[in-house]
Amino acid sequence: MRWDLALCTVRNWQNSDADSLVEHANDPAVSSRLRDAFPYPYTAADAHLWIEFASSAEPVTNFAIVVDGQAVGGIGLRLQEDVHRRSAEIGYWLGRQFWGRGIATEAVRAVTEFGFTTLDLCRIYAGVFEGNAASARVLEKAGYTYEARLRKAVFKNGEILDKLIYAVVR
Ligand SMILES: CC(C)(COP(=O)(O)OP(=O)(O)OC[C@H]1O[C@@H](n2cnc3c(N)ncnc32)[C@H](O)[C@@H]1OP(=O)(O)O)[C@@H](O)C(=O)NCCC(=O)NCCS
Repeated sequence: MRWDLALCTVRNWQNSDADSLVEHANDPAVSSRLRDAFPYPYTAADAHLWIEFASSAEPVTNFAIVVDGQAVGGIGLRLQEDVHRRSAEIGYWLGRQFWGRGIATEAVRAVTEFGFTTLDLCRIYAGVFEGNAASARVLEKAGYTYEARLRKAVFKNGEILDKLIYAVVR
């Protein structure tokens, strides 16, 4: 898949993204807002494993966010199972130097549309760790609604945090 948007391109991961992925992902300001599966430090081995995982999935649901030809972030849908199979969790991150330009919002809008039209989902949601106002704002701008606060749902970097659920349905 490939979407050429106004501020960025969202496309499938490719092997040549590995160096750029490490450069932008290896940042505690990024990883501290994400699951521990997104490691810090973020090594070349992590990048290769990720690109292999993302590229071999069927359907592909994880994409690179590309600015000026460089993969500077990622966005994806985690498809749910069983009775939740028409739901997906959206996740995304962007290299710190690209924050504040509207890039994540544009990417979330595109991948949300993909989830509804191509994957036939009826619910897409995100779990924002307490204190991540930028991500909550991204979701609001992209049409998501605040639904719930899951109290003490997250244990991250030694801290217990609430998780805020934002969702959009069609
Ligand atoms: C969250 C993240 C993807 C946002 O990317 P981005 O491209 O900077 O987002 P956008 O520019 O599209 O929008 C950010 C919005 O948050 C606002 N914002 C930023 N920091 C904020 C803060 N501390 N408090 C309140 N609002 C804030 C911006 O002003 C902007 O809103 P506006 O357009 O109304 O002014 C980026 O910060 C990131 O990668 N963070 C680490 C990983 C992460 O948190 N991923 C999401 C996990 S749920």
